[in-house]
Amino acid sequence: MRPYYLFEFCDVTWLPTGIRECLYEMMESCHSGIRSFNRTTSDAVLATCRKFGLKTIVEVGAGRAPLTRLLAQSPESGNLTLVPCDLVPNVAVYRSLESQYPGKVRPIYDRIDLTQPQPLLRNSLISFVGVMHHIPLELRPAVIASFKNSDSVIMVDEPLRRTWYSLILALLSVFVGLWVPIARFRQPGKLRRFFWCWLVPVAPLCFTWDAIASCLRQWNPDEWRNGLRLAGVADDRSQVVATSNSLSVQWSCLSAAR
Ligand SMILES: C[S@@+](CC[C@H](N)C(=O)[O-])C[C@H]1O[C@@H](n2cnc3c(N)ncnc32)[C@H](O)[C@@H]1O
Repeated sequence: MRPYYLFEFCDVTWLPTGIRECLYEMMESCHSGIRSFNRTTSDAVLATCRKFGLKTIVEVGAGRAPLTRLLAQSPESGNLTLVPCDLVPNVAVYRSLESQYPGKVRPIYDRIDLTQPQPLLRNSLISFVGVMHHIPLELRPAVIASFKNSDSVIMVDEPLRRTWYSLILALLSVFVGLWVPIARFRQPGKLRRFFWCWLVPVAPLCFTWDAIASCLRQWNPDEWRNGLRLAGVADDRSQVVATSNSLSVQWSCLSAAR
């Protein structure tokens, strides 16, 4: 199966806010409810942070910032600074996290576009959770290379793979879309969810399409290794680990002087 960079609803700015919020809630229900993907990722991020003695974790392409929320709740993140940011920052979620964890969560409210150089993202653990597949295939080596002098460790965690197994699971995600109004019945946004998930069930269809497109946009482990080499990351500074339905990549851009 070749990679295809198909359209995703989650990437377009014209999507009504109500549908966008539903899509992110479905994503969260999949990765923090049905699966423990977000928890596993936050544990790995904390362990890597400790290993390299880093004090700041930047969650790029954060969406509703599930990683920042889990990290902030963890007693082990005591002296860390947590920085969510995104191309489309979710200001309401950031404000709520910032007021819940003052001094610890410090969001970037400006748009952070990873396809542009980001010299301010430095000396940190930079975490891409479900984000790298949103970068067009041909831009990925340049995005990887842009962190070369960042004195940071980069972690990429993808919740899907470009395999038939992941594609079948992606098809089943329509049921997650239909179930979310029940699962989140006691949370604010009930009417929005009833409307977009049941009455005019556009959100579950958009979510399923996005899940399929996300699988097809993924690099497989060999493509990752090639991409890292193309970007000038030496094999002994990176690792690529794939499971049946997820993929983790990590590389170090820490300077030798540390
Ligand atoms: C599938 S969502 C993942 C959101 C969140 N990380 C999570 O796990 O729930 C992908 C995120 O990548 C962001 N994104 C897409 N293209 C981007 C870019 N060029 N620069 C920064 N963020 C981008 C989107 O705005 C979106 O929030």
